[in-house]
Amino acid sequence: MALKHPKGPAQRKRDVADTIFTSWGSEVPRHELSSEEMDPLAAYQIVHDELMLDGNSRLNLATFVTTWMDPKAQELMAECFDKNMIDKDEYPQTAAMEMRCIRMLSHLWNAPDKDQSTGCSTTGSSEAAMLAGLALKRRWQHKRKAEGKPADNPNMVMGINVQVCWDKFCNYWEVEMRQVPMEGDRYHISAEEAAKLCDENTIGVVAILGSTFDGSYEPVMEICEALDDLQAKKGLDIPVHVDGASGAMVAPFLDPDLVWDFRLPRVASINTSGHKYGLVYPGVGWIIWRDADALPEDLIFWVNYLGDNMPTFALNFSRPGAQVAAQYYVFLHLGFAGYKRVHGYSRKVATNLAKHIGELGPFELLTKGDELPVFAFKLKDDIKNYTVFDVSRALREHSWLVPAYTFPKNREDLAALRVVIRHDFNADMSEMLLEDLKSELPRLEKQPAPVHDSTTSSAFHH
Ligand SMILES: Cc1ncc(COP(=O)(O)O)c(C=O)c1O
Repeated sequence: MALKHPKGPAQRKRDVADTIFTSWGSEVPRHELSSEEMDPLAAYQIVHDELMLDGNSRLNLATFVTTWMDPKAQELMAECFDKNMIDKDEYPQTAAMEMRCIRMLSHLWNAPDKDQSTGCSTTGSSEAAMLAGLALKRRWQHKRKAEGKPADNPNMVMGINVQVCWDKFCNYWEVEMRQVPMEGDRYHISAEEAAKLCDENTIGVVAILGSTFDGSYEPVMEICEALDDLQAKKGLDIPVHVDGASGAMVAPFLDPDLVWDFRLPRVASINTSGHKYGLVYPGVGWIIWRDADALPEDLIFWVNYLGDNMPTFALNFSRPGAQVAAQYYVFLHLGFAGYKRVHGYSRKVATNLAKHIGELGPFELLTKGDELPVFAFKLKDDIKNYTVFDVSRALREHSWLVPAYTFPKNREDLAALRVVIRHDFNADMSEMLLEDLKSELPRLEKQPAPVHDSTTSSAFHH
């Protein structure tokens, strides 16, 4: 979470006043704990009023995270706010639902033996990535030690487009991060380049099923084939982790012929965010291993459960149980057919909107929304008097949050806008967005020179 730190950005202007003046005529300190109590209604009103200044999450086309759940889901979550996920003994049914979800996901992702399913819920894909990476690192260490070889210099291979959670994993757990840069029109990892970076110290290769930058699927099968080839030539047996934060809850329903999951023997683990295309409010994620052998037992901790011992693997201890109950509810409610319908609709909205934006004239599509329901687009090269950052600002005036950002190494020259379509963004809203974009173009076209660039726009983090 955001770290308050003396080296962080200066306190925002709106926080300058140290005192909050309430409509009851009283004053309360903004930055210190008040010495007096306050009526809950008054406190509620203050917090509520301040939160009105936050953006409208439904118009936030930057986020992959669920911004709408139906009233029954909300009711269920409210019923579970008091449940702590770790208290397996007190809340055995919440624990049982977690186990059922793991089994369902193992099955959905074609684990070889669903009766042996191995995995857990997490706070999101970031925690899941830490657990997946730790398992790969520990497996590699055990193997190296068994072979009498040094185990102190691990590395992990991935594309430069990975989400920041992989930078964190490599930094926190001291693993060298080896990244395949972008090249030309290739905005994610290539199998050939990934295999080139591998050596005997590689704990694993990360493949992303749907890149955060542009929604494209990375070629998981080709990566596995390149690593099979490497094993045949050099004897290196390197596992693959699939970061399916978004795509692992899209591809099974919309792309059944795409082979990316445990059908590939080299895929050791898969993570997803239940709170993205799993359709649950934040924060819940899932990590599933292909079998128990892929998760070294010395990483497991045991907690009391109905007088028995239950294995756990997590970075934190206490965690809300509501999200897990909600995930189980959505699995029950939608089933395979429901997810297929909901995500199929989102993909239709995404591909249609992408097509229409592509036809407007000044834009060029980088992706079409036909993998994740997400697409990125840039301005044509001959447009010099306004930038994607100006377009993002113009849309902001209509309340739409469409982020603009620059690409990483070797495509730092490329700046793009990205639209994430979620199930609560319908065709009607998509038309309104398109109309607003159209209405801004004449003004932008008349603009003599760019106003905003990556240095004047607030940074967008993937
Ligand atoms: C590919 C990928 N991996 C990991 C994450 C981190 O997920 P979470 O926000 O669930 O921690 C994201 C978030 O957007 C992502 O897109």
